[in-house]
Amino acid sequence: MKSTSAGGVSGYTESYPVDGIPENSGRFVVRGGARLAGDVVLAGAKNSALKLMAASLLTPEPCVISRVPRITDVFTMVEVLRSLGVAVDFEGDELRIAAGDGLSDCAPYELVRTMRASIVVMGPMVARLGRATIAMPGGCNIGPRRIDFHLRGLEKLGARVEIEHGFIKLSCDRLRGAVVPLDYPSVGATENLLMAATAAEGETVIENAAREPEIVDLAEYLSSMGACIEGAGTSSVHVQGGRPLHGTQHQVIADRIEAGTYLIAGAVGAGDVTVHGLEPHHLELFLTKLHLMGVEIQEGKHSMRASRSGPLRPVDISTLPHPGFPTDLQAQVMVLLSLADGTSIVTENVFENRFVVVDELNRLGAGITTSGHHAVVTGPRALTGTVVEAPDLRGGAALVIAGLVAEGSTEIRGAHHIDRGYEGFADKLTALGANVTRVQADETPLARTTGASARTLR
Ligand code: UD1
Repeated sequence: MKSTSAGGVSGYTESYPVDGIPENSGRFVVRGGARLAGDVVLAGAKNSALKLMAASLLTPEPCVISRVPRITDVFTMVEVLRSLGVAVDFEGDELRIAAGDGLSDCAPYELVRTMRASIVVMGPMVARLGRATIAMPGGCNIGPRRIDFHLRGLEKLGARVEIEHGFIKLSCDRLRGAVVPLDYPSVGATENLLMAATAAEGETVIENAAREPEIVDLAEYLSSMGACIEGAGTSSVHVQGGRPLHGTQHQVIADRIEAGTYLIAGAVGAGDVTVHGLEPHHLELFLTKLHLMGVEIQEGKHSMRASRSGPLRPVDISTLPHPGFPTDLQAQVMVLLSLADGTSIVTENVFENRFVVVDELNRLGAGITTSGHHAVVTGPRALTGTVVEAPDLRGGAALVIAGLVAEGSTEIRGAHHIDRGYEGFADKLTALGANVTRVQADETPLARTTGASARTLR
């Protein structure tokens, strides 16, 4: 595979070509019926690591970030940083990023279109350079994901914003602190503004800020670089800007969405799974809902165990910004609800089009109907394996989980969606006792395989 790296890189072999993630990158094959039991050591949070990488642009000095997940979204962000002239070294789970003094002011379309999260380089770039040109982002197929809050907020801090030929152009003489009220507690907008505000003269107050644990992690990272931030994790974040930022070292928080995914994977087959590395309060409402469904939860200081011996009960779920139920676990939990005896209503309040996986779950035997942003999940249903297509990252994980309890084999195509956010997904599930294989794009399809020809990639 052609790499875009600038050389001098060791230990980083999964470079993506500059034209993005391959569309047909293989599939997962799952043979259902295994009971999952055991322990999972969680990787670092994707949604934090990507932002810490962007924040590293705020200083010319080297920054070292550990517990970085080896997933394609991180590889894409590595390429985004390199395209800006930044030196990046990715060894094991440790990233070393040195933005230096020759930072480019243009993030290319070929990379930004493959991952919406690349838009978080906007705030640090305008903070460092006083200008930035960034392609309009792409990303998951879960509704029209706008960036108006990011842009309005940056304008409040003094940036001029122009949109031309699919590119956003930002410029300013100097950013100035301001009160920035967000229409909605957008995670990405809070992060972009937080990073830009570290360079803005005087005080910035982000009101109605997102309260996700990843925002707190970013604020801690920026503080360790010398920024002055108060209130991260609350809806009012105060930044005293204009201080010079320096290099730092930091460990990414564990991935709460990965944690929830494995806890559900265990619960669907009446298993017993413990995830390690995460403080349970990051998943409070999710754990409460599992408990209400009949899953026994045991919390440690940095671990959570979910086990089940009895039947599942239906519960209603409404996704909301943190500390509400995470939208990134909505698809996976619908599999569990499909096995519960009764009717559950799932309301998606964060993204439009986030029920795109429902048709595929129904092809496996689930009984889910949708109307607008509500889904009615009727159970218990016996699932049966077939060939399905992952529509996006979390929907893809939900289909793999459904395959764990489906009779026979399930082939989940579009594995590149799942690779975006789960490090070693097949390996971790296999270690818990699942029969899951990651198959290359050019290998024999399920219809013609005996099961023995499937080859594990990682
Ligand atoms: C982040 C996460 C994603 C998670 C989401 C909500 C990353 C890389 N991704 O996405 O996994 O599902 O938070 O927890 O961290 N919106 C606007 N205008 C804007 C910004 C957002 O209308 O300027 C809308 C979006 O269309 C969406 C909602 O606000 O409907 C939430 O978006 P936001 O919180 O910004 O999510 P992301 O940061 O994109």
